[in-house]
Amino acid sequence: MASTDIITIFDFGSQYTQLIARRIRRLNVYTRIVPHDTPLSEVEDSKGFILSGGPSSVYETSFPRYDPEILISGVPVLGICLGMQAIANQFGGRVRKGSIGEYGSSTVDIQYSGRIFEGLESQEKVWMSHGDSVEEVPANFKVLAISDGIAAAFADRERQLYGFQFHPEVSHTPHGNKMLENFIVAICGCRQDWTPANYIQETRERIRQQIGSSRSVAFVSGGVDSLVAYILVAGAGVGRVYPIFVNNGLLRKGEAHEVEERLRQLGINDLVCVDYSQMFLDSLKGVNDPEVKRQVIGDLFMRVQEDEMQKLGLDENTPLIQGSLYTDFIESGFGVGKVAQRIKTHHNIGSPLVQRRREQGLLVEPLRELFKDDVRYIGLELGLPEETIWRHPFPGPGLAIRMVGEVAPRRLDILREADWRYIEDLKNLGLYSQIWQAFAALTGVRSVGVMGDNRAYKEVAVLRAVTSEDGMTAEPFNFPQGVLQRISERIVNEVPDIGRVFYDTTPKPPATIELE
Ligand code: XMP
Repeated sequence: MASTDIITIFDFGSQYTQLIARRIRRLNVYTRIVPHDTPLSEVEDSKGFILSGGPSSVYETSFPRYDPEILISGVPVLGICLGMQAIANQFGGRVRKGSIGEYGSSTVDIQYSGRIFEGLESQEKVWMSHGDSVEEVPANFKVLAISDGIAAAFADRERQLYGFQFHPEVSHTPHGNKMLENFIVAICGCRQDWTPANYIQETRERIRQQIGSSRSVAFVSGGVDSLVAYILVAGAGVGRVYPIFVNNGLLRKGEAHEVEERLRQLGINDLVCVDYSQMFLDSLKGVNDPEVKRQVIGDLFMRVQEDEMQKLGLDENTPLIQGSLYTDFIESGFGVGKVAQRIKTHHNIGSPLVQRRREQGLLVEPLRELFKDDVRYIGLELGLPEETIWRHPFPGPGLAIRMVGEVAPRRLDILREADWRYIEDLKNLGLYSQIWQAFAALTGVRSVGVMGDNRAYKEVAVLRAVTSEDGMTAEPFNFPQGVLQRISERIVNEVPDIGRVFYDTTPKPPATIELE
């Protein structure tokens, strides 16, 4: 990353921290997120710092401690929400607790435009979400904008310290991007050269440094992440890369064949396809718990990988290429936050075998700092077809985590039939591309119905369709009237073992996208 300008975001626990990073990356500047207590010495290569918002208060013991040197290092700093209050607190300003919090849309009056508000109106719509506020700005700081009588933005221009009480990173602050651009370009002086092309070039350089002329193995799934990871390595000028596709018996209807075809069409002629369905299904017999399912699958993947490497005459020190994303790490409890909670263990992240490999430097994960949409941009730059780029994400553990309860072959078949019809209808109706991810799942519940004159007692399926930017948060998709009814009718009529179809209207959070 050395030749690129870097903005470092200190994570104070805000749910928007990732969003700040993504906004800045879309401005073609590389951003990294680090834990709040990362010392200045570890991030001295930064052209600018951002202190994120967070749920605590500068007066609480839970306030995320940070290295105070960061604010006197001469590098420009932007504090957002709690980050602004932290700046005020460090330089002797006064932060008022609670009482007049603001939540939602608000309008700020810009009193001094300067570089940070250049190109903006004298009144701007912004998004507020705070309890505490800066009541008295520190000496040498100037209030730049006011909202409802409180300091909505301040700055010490000499020391290049800026604070926003509002959130410029959310889409409800319509000109927030411009404000962030002003900070990172006009104030921090960042070059906007973090383009997909540069990223590809730099990543390949890092890959060359990591594995040199070693041969390596890439397990490709047909999804965009593993494919982009493979192409990045295959084009890096390293030793031979062996692409392998594993059928784990948990794929969707016709998927194994379709993926093989697609990859060959992309010119991946040396693809090795192996079928381990039986082994996966045998090992999942009687397993109901979601985390145990994930662990069993993760460990089996590793075993398969080792077996296949052996077959190719490659030893255990052969580097393995994975398309793990930043989001996979966060959800698996390996996020940047020191207190990151494990929500679910993504199959390619958490198992002890994977961890061991990672520690030994034998995992090549070129996408580990990226979000899904970053990967899609890079995939486009690499010339992948649109259809592959915009394919909905499909989890490594496959249909196993889309059926509550046991993973039995019969249930897999039922789910395949329902899911296939759902997705086919979405494509025919032109809705597939409007949805970030859609799938059918089995709820593990059976319900009573009447078919002809007979009592029926069948599986209840659920349809999920969400819009999202990166899978970290998601909203249920709003179907046009009548569509769900038609799809549900088709499934119940054509899939004999499904008696009822529900639609999942729960956003993430509090739900996750997958059922398990
Ligand atoms: P959740 O269910 O955590 O899903 O809201 C967020 C996104 O991640 C995908 N997902 C996975 N992908 N291995 C993967 O490769 C996994 O173990 C895994 N679990 C969830 C999920 O499909 C969604 O896109």
